[in-house]
Amino acid sequence: MKLKKIKVAIDSPAAAGAGTISKMLAKHYNLLYCDTGKIYRYLAKKLIQKKPKNKISYLKKISKKVDLKKLKDKTLINDEVAYTASQIAKDLRVRKSVLKFQRKLAYNPPPSYNGSILDGRDIGTIVIKDADFKFYITASIKIRATRRFKELKKLGKKVKFEEILKSMKKRDREDRTRKHSKLKKAANSTLINTSGLSIKNSFLKVKKIMDSKLN
Ligand code: C5P
Repeated sequence: MKLKKIKVAIDSPAAAGAGTISKMLAKHYNLLYCDTGKIYRYLAKKLIQKKPKNKISYLKKISKKVDLKKLKDKTLINDEVAYTASQIAKDLRVRKSVLKFQRKLAYNPPPSYNGSILDGRDIGTIVIKDADFKFYITASIKIRATRRFKELKKLGKKVKFEEILKSMKKRDREDRTRKHSKLKKAANSTLINTSGLSIKNSFLKVKKIMDSKLN
């Protein structure tokens, strides 16, 4: 089946299953995938390590040459990095620089791909406003915190559920109320609540919607 190049925008709060579903969609439709939260996490980790004098100009500089392979680094999955990421993500100058990188990926995926899929907080509202498909993936806070708890445990981290829940609530609140690029559902996106769904069934639900438009 030959598809026209498509752009898929996925937004979600933390640990709603969006990353896993996006990866499955990317594989199924042969789309370039980018978890944009990992870009902010990557910048956050660099900031924590290097402690530059001028944070913003440093972040702007390194956001120009992010290597997608580096975003797979497992050390990006920890609470300090996530929180620092949400702090730097509030800054419009940083966001503008990251936006350029994201749009390059979304609008110019390598020719071997059938298109692109990006997930984050502002993909359907800002980054790919004209996406062919927009989904807002969510789940209850308890379920999301449980998923993150299990994910961190699997990585061998000593974590407490209550702490995960608390920091997730805080990050959610900040992402939803910040001045720029607030986390919100785009008006023309489809809401997918994964609370009672397995990952496979969540994927199938999204796939069914996409296939009905593609075929
Ligand atoms: O998705 P993830 O939890 O890895 O994102 C880390 C943080 O990066 C989020 O809490 C959010 O503040 C920020 N982010 C953002 N815009 C995106 C993706 C992530 O502001 N498109």
